[in-house]
Amino acid sequence: MEPYHHLFTLLLLLLLFPSFLESQTQRQENNTGYTCNKNQTNNNYPCQAYAYYKSTSPNFLDLATIGDLFSLSRLAISKPSNISSPSSPLIPNQPLLIPLTCSCNFINKTFGSISYSNITYTIKPSDTFFIVSTINFQNLTTYPSIEVVNPSLVPTNLSIGENVVLPIFCMCPKKIKSSSNISNFANYMISYVVQPLDNVSSIASMFGTNEKSIVDVNGEKLYDYDTIFVPIDKLPILKQPIVLPPSGNSNDDKIIRDLAIGLGFIGFMLLLVIGIWIYREVLFKDRLWMVKMKLGRELYFGQKGNKENNNNNNNNNNKVDVKLIANVSDCLDKYRVFGIEELLDATNGFDESCLIQGSVYKGSIDGQVYAIKKMEWNVYEELKILQKVNHGNLVKLEGFCIDPAETNCYLVYEYVENGSLYSWLHEGKNEKLNWVTRLRIAIDIANGLLYIHEHTRPKVVHKDIKSSNILLDSNMRAKIANFGLAKSGMNAITMHIVGTQGYISPEYLADGIVSTKMDVFSFGVVLLELISGKEAIDEEGNLLWDSAIKTFELNNEQEKARRLKRWLDEDILKETCSMESLMGVLHVAIACLHRDPSKRPSIMDIVYGLSKSEDTGFELSDEGIGSPRLMAR
Ligand SMILES: *[C@@H]1O[C@H](CO)[C@@H](O)[C@H](O)[C@H]1NC(C)=O
Ligand SMILES: *[C@@H]1O[C@H](CO)[C@@H](O)[C@H](O)[C@H]1NC(C)=O
Ligand SMILES: *[C@@H]1O[C@H](CO)[C@@H](O)[C@H](O)[C@H]1NC(C)=O
Ligand SMILES: *[C@@H]1O[C@H](CO)[C@@H](O)[C@H](O)[C@H]1NC(C)=O
Ligand SMILES: *[C@@H]1O[C@H](CO)[C@@H](O)[C@H](O)[C@H]1NC(C)=O
Ligand SMILES: *[C@@H]1O[C@H](CO)[C@@H](O)[C@H](O)[C@H]1NC(C)=O
Ligand SMILES: *[C@@H]1O[C@H](CO)[C@@H](O)[C@H](O)[C@H]1NC(C)=O
Ligand SMILES: *[C@@H]1O[C@H](CO)[C@@H](O)[C@H](O)[C@H]1NC(C)=O
Ligand SMILES: *[C@@H]1O[C@H](CO)[C@@H](O)[C@H](O)[C@H]1NC(C)=O
Repeated sequence: MEPYHHLFTLLLLLLLFPSFLESQTQRQENNTGYTCNKNQTNNNYPCQAYAYYKSTSPNFLDLATIGDLFSLSRLAISKPSNISSPSSPLIPNQPLLIPLTCSCNFINKTFGSISYSNITYTIKPSDTFFIVSTINFQNLTTYPSIEVVNPSLVPTNLSIGENVVLPIFCMCPKKIKSSSNISNFANYMISYVVQPLDNVSSIASMFGTNEKSIVDVNGEKLYDYDTIFVPIDKLPILKQPIVLPPSGNSNDDKIIRDLAIGLGFIGFMLLLVIGIWIYREVLFKDRLWMVKMKLGRELYFGQKGNKENNNNNNNNNNKVDVKLIANVSDCLDKYRVFGIEELLDATNGFDESCLIQGSVYKGSIDGQVYAIKKMEWNVYEELKILQKVNHGNLVKLEGFCIDPAETNCYLVYEYVENGSLYSWLHEGKNEKLNWVTRLRIAIDIANGLLYIHEHTRPKVVHKDIKSSNILLDSNMRAKIANFGLAKSGMNAITMHIVGTQGYISPEYLADGIVSTKMDVFSFGVVLLELISGKEAIDEEGNLLWDSAIKTFELNNEQEKARRLKRWLDEDILKETCSMESLMGVLHVAIACLHRDPSKRPSIMDIVYGLSKSEDTGFELSDEGIGSPRLMAR
């Protein structure tokens, strides 16, 4: 009897409430996008629009990650979202307003045009259009629409690293014909994904608008997970749950009051626990900073800044962090603290003429020349690593500076006179490097890596070894620079892939595996650059390491020799340098590039291998063939 009973209830439900059925079938499944008409005289495309998005656990809990998703800066999101400190982590379900540029895009004659914001997304392992649209972008787009916009891609055969245009649904308000009727006026449209418990009145009150204007644009009926467009005059002020006190001792009451205002009861209990926990953690660290460094409360923000980097293991790391901060603050005694005026003076107010590259400026203070790197508040990771390392083949940190007014931070390094290896090899501004110098440079880099891989505890992985991060001093000795992406600790797995195309190891790109072997791989690519004089990735996007391995794997010895010869840098060949030495280095490079990280040599083996090549290289120069220019000491 029981099953029939249920069936009957279900039938009754369906008969009585046809809408019950409708709201369960998701229209968005078939939604290929919202049409727009480019030709209409009163259209407003392109326009500024916004999307409502919520932070979610575990991957989208900080503005940096969400910003990456939409190709926006943290500030671009924090401003419209009423978040005062862009670098602090978010809690799950924090509401955000994401600014979009909405345009009307022509697909083809039969299909017409659809309106969307053009976001580029790079396919990661195990992504499908469905997962990306429903999870990463929270149904602000649909997989049928992604297919329409990317006709050349095969949805069942996506390759990692491929770029896909994600059409984030949006709409522009109609131009008003007569400004007399104010109730028809809207400045922006917010794209909002309907949630199962929503109704028109709850949505209207959420965005501070009236029900009628929502119905005018979207019709009476709401469908779950459909994107609707909410017309608004001005941006709603989102209630952000956590208001951390800037500093101080007994602000408990204020926190609780702030929390209580914005939240329902259940959310409140949850947030109270999280809030108090964060409050205690941050305040504790805050005091530590203040006591240790006497730099005042500004550093509190810097502290929070580092969270962006380890959002995945935030919880486990907090205790460790406290200890590390103590370490950093201890070591900071060793560094000079520069004033912002000194740096402004040194660089003519960060004038373009002092720019070395990226955000690095050259400046002279008290007659001493420095390289000054301007950073946002994520300086902490780099400081943490640099304070542990001190080696002739690593660029030395001399001091730092904090500019509380601009929330910028500056790291001040020794100035390395001869610029980057990249500019020597590929920009042709300088004299050509001879083989002996190149070999010395290779050995210097290997020694620098040996130091961070084997002689620091815990080991440090640089993660971004490339010729533009290798600097050459006045004696043409190489130093590794830019520890901005470096990680201490080993065999971590990260979801946030960073690094440089052409140098990234396959296992890191595919699975996010971080190990010293990824530096070995990138070093292999730098060796190839030294041997071939070619860039790690050419204009057509061909990878140097890929072509090297393919050449090396040829079975036809004659063809192989012919191709190798074409592949080597002509400038070295002119020198009649020792072929034996060259081939020795090439063998090391090929070994570094093994696809299986465990089969790559350790940095110790590499140093040994290169030193052997150096012996053969020097024998030759002693005989006086090919005179080494820029001879290293
Ligand atoms: C989606 O499309 C399929 C086939 O075109 C159709 O059978 C189904 O009813 C559609 N669903 C909705 C909710 O429109
Ligand atoms: C838009 O107008 C142009 C000429 O003004 C016409 O060639 C084109 O076909 C029109 N497109 C649509 C979609 O109506
Ligand atoms: C998306 O934007 C990129 C760069 O802004 C542009 O090259 C591309 O053509 C755009 N794609 C579409 C479909 O509008
Ligand atoms: C997106 O829609 C699907 C149903 O098509 C739903 O299962 C999923 O939970 C939605 N995602 C979000 C983040 O709301
Ligand atoms: C127009 O685009 C739609 C969606 O991608 C596609 O199904 C259709 O075949 C296209 N038509 C033409 C004539 O290219
Ligand atoms: C998948 O794509 C790759 C290249 O992107 C291609 O070589 C391969 O043949 C494709 N496989 C299928 C089953 O289409
Ligand atoms: C303004 O528009 C509303 C409907 O959108 C209409 O009911 C009202 O009469 C209009 N008022 C004026 C002054 O045109
Ligand atoms: C809309 O939902 C809210 C709660 O989300 C509820 O209080 C209200 O009664 C609902 N209104 C209608 C018309 O269903
Ligand atoms: C931001 O949100 C807080 C907490 O909900 C609110 O009190 C405050 O007025 C808002 N600030 C601005 C500038 O909108």
